[in-house]
Amino acid sequence: MFAAIETSFDETGLAICDAAGGICQSLLASQVEAHAPYRGVVPELAARTHLSDLPQMWRQLDPQWRTNLAAIGVTAGPGLPGSLLAGLNFASGLALSAGCPLYPLNHLEGHIFSPFMPIALDEPSTKEPGPHSLPALPFPHLALIISGGHTELFLVNSLTDIQLLGQTLDDAVGELLDKVSALLGLGYPGGARLEQLARSADVLDAEARYDGPLTLPVPMRTSGDLNFSYSGLKTAVVRLVRSAEAAGQPLDASAQAELAAALFSVICDSLWLKLAEALNQHKVEILTVSGGVAINGFVRARLRAAGRQAGVDVRFPQPRHCLDNAEMMAWLLCLHVAAGIRANVADAWSQWLPGEHRR
Ligand code: KG4
Ligand code: ZN
Repeated sequence: MFAAIETSFDETGLAICDAAGGICQSLLASQVEAHAPYRGVVPELAARTHLSDLPQMWRQLDPQWRTNLAAIGVTAGPGLPGSLLAGLNFASGLALSAGCPLYPLNHLEGHIFSPFMPIALDEPSTKEPGPHSLPALPFPHLALIISGGHTELFLVNSLTDIQLLGQTLDDAVGELLDKVSALLGLGYPGGARLEQLARSADVLDAEARYDGPLTLPVPMRTSGDLNFSYSGLKTAVVRLVRSAEAAGQPLDASAQAELAAALFSVICDSLWLKLAEALNQHKVEILTVSGGVAINGFVRARLRAAGRQAGVDVRFPQPRHCLDNAEMMAWLLCLHVAAGIRANVADAWSQWLPGEHRR
């Protein structure tokens, strides 16, 4: 059995899987309520909460999964330093006591390969464990990550050859949604609340296009590269809200809902703009979209429809694998072990050590 630990940001995850990627048990503790009063994640609080949640989760595991671990994987970055260290430290202790290798894993690779996870928790793997039973992944493909901390587009040539094509120059898509949600007084995290609000307006067509009176700019339309930017769009929303207030007509619930709908429409425009350009530059048959914002129904509808027209297969992870979780890291661990990639835990630790203690 393999174990994976994910603590890059504000979710504490622990998952056990077999060598073919079948999830045996998965635990996830959300810190949303702890951070909600601060309207965003407080790094120190996140790290301390991981420290207290991890041992509790370990005790909650079915005892049969706590022994005979063949490998442990842990998210080693990118993420909040304190959160990463909490996970890395706990996983190092586990690996020492289990006498098994510890694989440092990249959080973004966890998202990138999450759309290919084969097995749901309620369908435990019946396959013989072993590398031969893992499905072959389709290479090359394009991978877009849209989350609270990331908006990045990659060309994925293999498990280890992943090329960054473009990224946000400022805010991530989820960050924009969280900030607009806070502006409208909807709270944190904002993406799901804004989606619910936008649905109530009922002004988007089946492909999440808005054709009403509100105008928001499509960011980076003429940038000529594959980068993204969302801080200008945030400013445009702030201006719209503030000018309505200044005119003595603050947005009521239905006007807020229409604004949220228009925002999702423009976000979809901006994502597809860059994806279409990337598809022009790179001949691939598959495009994946992962990360917390990939749960969004508007984004799914638009990118699926646009992909169909462009002749590309657009794949999303299951919704529960979009937000940060340990199952996707367990799956990545399986892929690494099956590919014969060696655990190099010294690298994971050396980045945290003061200069003279590095290897
Ligand atoms: O992947 P994730 O858990 O964290 C990062 O690695 O950043 O993503 C969290 C982000 C938040 O910004 C949240 O607002 C957004 O995912 N999100 C959504 C939805 N549910 C969560 N965005 C749009 N629509 C949703 N339904
Ligand atoms: Zn993430």
